[in-house]
This record gives sequence, structure tokens and C-alpha cells, in this order.
Amino acid sequence: MCGIVAYLGDKEAQPLLLEGLRRLEYRGYDSSGMAVLNGKGLEVVKKVGRIQQLERALSGQPLHGTLGICHTRWATHGKATEINAHPHTDASGKLAIVHNGVIENYGTLKKKLSDKGFQFRTETDTEVLAFLIGFYFDTLNSETENRLEMAVMEALREVTGTYGLVAIHEDQPGVMVGARRGSPLVLGIGPHEHFLASDVSAVAAHTQTVAHLRDFDVVTIDRNGYRLKSLSQNQAGLEISQIEYQSGVAEMGDFPHFMLKEIFEQPVSIQNAVRGRLNLEESTAQLGGLNLNPQELREIDRIVITACGTALHAGMVGEYIIESLAHVPVEIEYASEFRLRNSPMDRRTLVIAVSQSGETEDTLGALREARRKGHRVLGICNNVASTLARETDGGVYMYAGPEVSVAATKSFTSQTIIFVLLGLLLGRMRFLSASQGRGIIEAIEALPDQITQVLKQSSHIRDIAKKYSHSHSMLFFGRQMQYGIALEGALKMKEISYIHAEGHPTAELKHGIIALVDEKTPSVFLCPKDGAYDKNINNLQQIKARKGPVIAVATEGNEEIVQHADDVIFIPEAPEYTAPILSVVALQLFAYHMAVILGKDVDKPRNLAKSVTVP
Ligand code: F6R
Repeated sequence: MCGIVAYLGDKEAQPLLLEGLRRLEYRGYDSSGMAVLNGKGLEVVKKVGRIQQLERALSGQPLHGTLGICHTRWATHGKATEINAHPHTDASGKLAIVHNGVIENYGTLKKKLSDKGFQFRTETDTEVLAFLIGFYFDTLNSETENRLEMAVMEALREVTGTYGLVAIHEDQPGVMVGARRGSPLVLGIGPHEHFLASDVSAVAAHTQTVAHLRDFDVVTIDRNGYRLKSLSQNQAGLEISQIEYQSGVAEMGDFPHFMLKEIFEQPVSIQNAVRGRLNLEESTAQLGGLNLNPQELREIDRIVITACGTALHAGMVGEYIIESLAHVPVEIEYASEFRLRNSPMDRRTLVIAVSQSGETEDTLGALREARRKGHRVLGICNNVASTLARETDGGVYMYAGPEVSVAATKSFTSQTIIFVLLGLLLGRMRFLSASQGRGIIEAIEALPDQITQVLKQSSHIRDIAKKYSHSHSMLFFGRQMQYGIALEGALKMKEISYIHAEGHPTAELKHGIIALVDEKTPSVFLCPKDGAYDKNINNLQQIKARKGPVIAVATEGNEEIVQHADDVIFIPEAPEYTAPILSVVALQLFAYHMAVILGKDVDKPRNLAKSVTVP
């Protein structure tokens, strides 16, 4: 994971680097560091903990210079310590690199360098790479033009694994070299300055002219501009594009946390996901970005949805939605499994990769494997400038706006509503009548107000959270379209409150999970009025019979439920395909309030990062 920002221009690098780094903190936050080249040579400062620690250190001891690199880390190899933080220097201490990715053959490379007498200071793969580049740099004649570029390319030819990296060297003080394979790196082009960063958000405030490096690209930047080379045979020029910069979109406003702000944005983010996509005249959805004509859409006879984490849970709800609305068989696959598995698929199988960031390594691996086998892959994605957006054959953008909190909330509901749109579109080409289509559109249009109704219960949900805040463990149960919500509710709870939580299909309770039930273990029961309601109440009573406390999420107006459950969160009446969006909002609030009550760092939970760019 990790985030990189590098700058070469006519301004002081430190403030620009820090500002960019703050925007990348979502990529990892266990340590950070900066290196700047100036008249004194290479100066490096590193700190463990949040970026504020680095800022504090630099405010007392600023680094001056107009060329610098910095990094925020999410540990993969080696603990989160100062010495393991980036930038890493080579044996001479004159070269520094920042790196995002994993050098898979670092053991072999380390041995090769150790045999030559090099002594390593850390356990990291990045230090090995720094030493390797430094080794090649030192073997080249000091008069060699492009010495750093040549050393980087020579080293990378020996590397197996993934990298987005930037290198600088004291002996070539006006140059930085960036390279990419598997981990994103964006070049920001300004009038008298250039940036390299893991993500456009780190540079967008300074330049809107950007180019995404492709795998094997190596870019060398000096005071005259940039030059592109490639480690592969097929070199093509960089595609330069203009991005939109909206200042202030990622501010917290009056909310105490980004997570709460993003939960409360959902009436609007749902509207943004739907805007322009409903065809009222024909009672269907219109999703132009799919790049599929009506006949191709008609021919799809199976869909495989692949994703990770919260996006996978949205896909699980999507599986039920599409099967029920369109009668197309759907399977959901963990991207991490799908990418390695040889799942039989025929040419009419459509693959859909779902990802908020569009940078999740396993999801990208899954989509690449599917495309390698000749399948058409669509994306459901929030980040329009992402790798996933570029590598899919088409798809649907979520337009949810930046999701800063590490725990995903609004992206989940946007993904789910996009599955409703897809179900409607495919369904109207198959079995759904115009009046059924109209009914679905009405349910979609009702959602923003219905979400607002759930949000109004925030303080009631906080009271419930308080009541159960001493729990060590919680169970979440849901059936059918609410099963994915049970998993998501449990994931939110464990991610930010660190309370052990498990989600299960409700009826599985009897097959083992009931052994966990006791007076101290609350069960959250998703039981809106739907076809499974009576069965759910039976299961709920099985818990009550064992003295387990029950928190029910039920449909407004259901008076009977208060007799069965200890606490109830009501959601507005909605069809089974939109009800999951309402119940998940209630569980997002439940997890949020629990984490606040327990004094946890809601927006940056321990050990997590927003974007998981390692396999
Ligand atoms: C949970 C969470 C993660 C992500 C997962 C996939 O709150 O945020 O589980 O959902 O890492 O991320 P994307 O959607 O960016 O592919």
C-alpha cells in the first residue's frame, strides 16, 4: 500500500510534499518520511506514527530544497519502526528511494548483495532495492549521462514483484527517476515543476495536467522536463489528461469524523449514482458506460462479480438483486481467490469487478486474469482516474465523491444501487414488465428520503450502542439480500470498534453458531418485513430462549417485533432490493457510535489502510 509524493521544481519541496502526503494518508499511516536534496547533500527525516509526527519533526528542523521525495507507509516487510520507514537509502547513503509494492525476490537479491559484502540495516524489501540501484549507480562511470536512470533500469530488470518508486541521488542533484509496475504512479506536469505521486489527489491542487505511468514505464525528470523510457518492448508515449480539481471536497465540515460525514452524505451519493440513469419512458435503466449493445446485454447468460471487503459484500447483495430482477445466474467470488483459480466460464459470462478505489491489487489481479482469458470485464468504481477504470471494457462510475474514512460506507450503498440499476436494465430485457420496471424506479427514487429517515435515528442508535458497549463479541444475522448486510455490519463493527463480530446467514444459527450465544453476546437480527420474516422470527426466538440479547432491524410499523427483541431500529418499508441500503445505514451508525463510545480512532483504525495495493 503506502503513498508516494515527489517534487522537482522551483519552489520549496517540503510544504508541497507534506500537503500531498496528507492527501495520501488513506493509503497507510504507520510511519512516514521525507528526503530532500540540497546544497548539503541528501537529508532524510523519518517518523513512526501518523503524518503529524513527521510534520512536528520537520517544523523544528525543516528540510530546505526544491527536490524531494516522501512516503507514508503501511508495513508489509518489517515492523512499523523508524528504521523501516521510507525513504530508504543505499549503502553509500547518497541514494534514497520511496517505494510502494512488494519485491517478491528480495531474498535472492539480498543474498546476492550480501555475498558482495553489503550489510543491511533493515528487514525491508525496499532497502534491498535501494542497495541494488545504488550498486548499479556506483558501477557506472561518474561522467555517465542518465546515470540514475540507467541504474534504476538495470536494477528493475532483476526485480520480480510490484513497484511504484521514485529515486534521487546526491551525485545527480537535479534529477528524479520514477518507475511503475503494478503499483500506481502519476506524473503531474506544471509549468516549472513536476510531481510524481501514487494518486492524483496528491498533486491536483497544484497541477491538473497529469499522466498515469503504465507498467514498465520509467520516467526521468530534470529541470528541463521529463523523458519516458520503458522496460518492456512496447513503449508508447504517455497519455496526458486534464483532471478536475475541486478544492474542499474532502473537508470534514461540521462533522467530528469523515465516517459520520460520509454516512450522512448517502441521500446525496445515492442520487448521484442514479442521476441520468433512469429511463422513465421505457421504465428501465440506461447505463451507457457498459459499452454493450442491447443484443450483447441480452446474450449475457451468467455474471461473475469479483471484489474484496465491503465491495464484495455489495456484490453479495448484487448477486441476489440481479438474480431476482433479471433471472441471470450470478456468482460472487473473492477477488483474491478468483485471480488464482481456474473457474470455468464460457464466452457469454460477464465479469464485474467492484472497487471504490479502483486500485485494490487483488481486484485488479482478478480482472486481469479474466481479461487474459478473453472475458469481457466491467467495473463498478468510484475513482474515475483509477487503474480499474482504465483496464476494464466498460462500467458504471459511482460518483460518490471522495471517501476518506478508511471504513467504507457511502461506496457500499452506491455499489448496491448500481446493482439495482443493472438488475432493472437486464430484467427489462427479459422478464420484467413495464409496470414492474416502474415500481423499481419508484423504489429507487424513494431511497434518499428513506435514508434520511434512518439517519434521523442516529441518537437512538447511539443509545443502543452505549448499552452494548461492554460486549466482547457480537453476532449479525441476515437472510437473502440481508445476508450481505449482516456481513457488512459485522465488518464495520470489527474494523472500527475492534469488537469481535461475525456475520452469518440467519438459519445457519442452528448449525453451530448458537453455541456462542449467551447473556453477554448480542445478536443483531436483520428482519425487515419480507418473504423470510416469519422464519427470522423463529430464529430470533431461538436466541432469546438462550438468553441472548437481540437488536432487531425491522420495518417501521411492525409492532410485534418489540415483544421479541430487546432493542429495535426501524427502517422505512421498502422492497427487498432497496431495503438492504436502509438496513446497512443503521448498522454503519451502530458501528460508528460504538467506536466513538469506546474511544477508537474512527477514521483511521489500527492496522488498516484505505487502499490495499498489495496482494
Ligand atoms: C471496509 C473496507 C475494505 C474495502 C476493500 C476493497 O470498510 O473499506 O474492506 O472495501 O479493501 O476496497 P476497494 O473497494 O477500494 O477495492
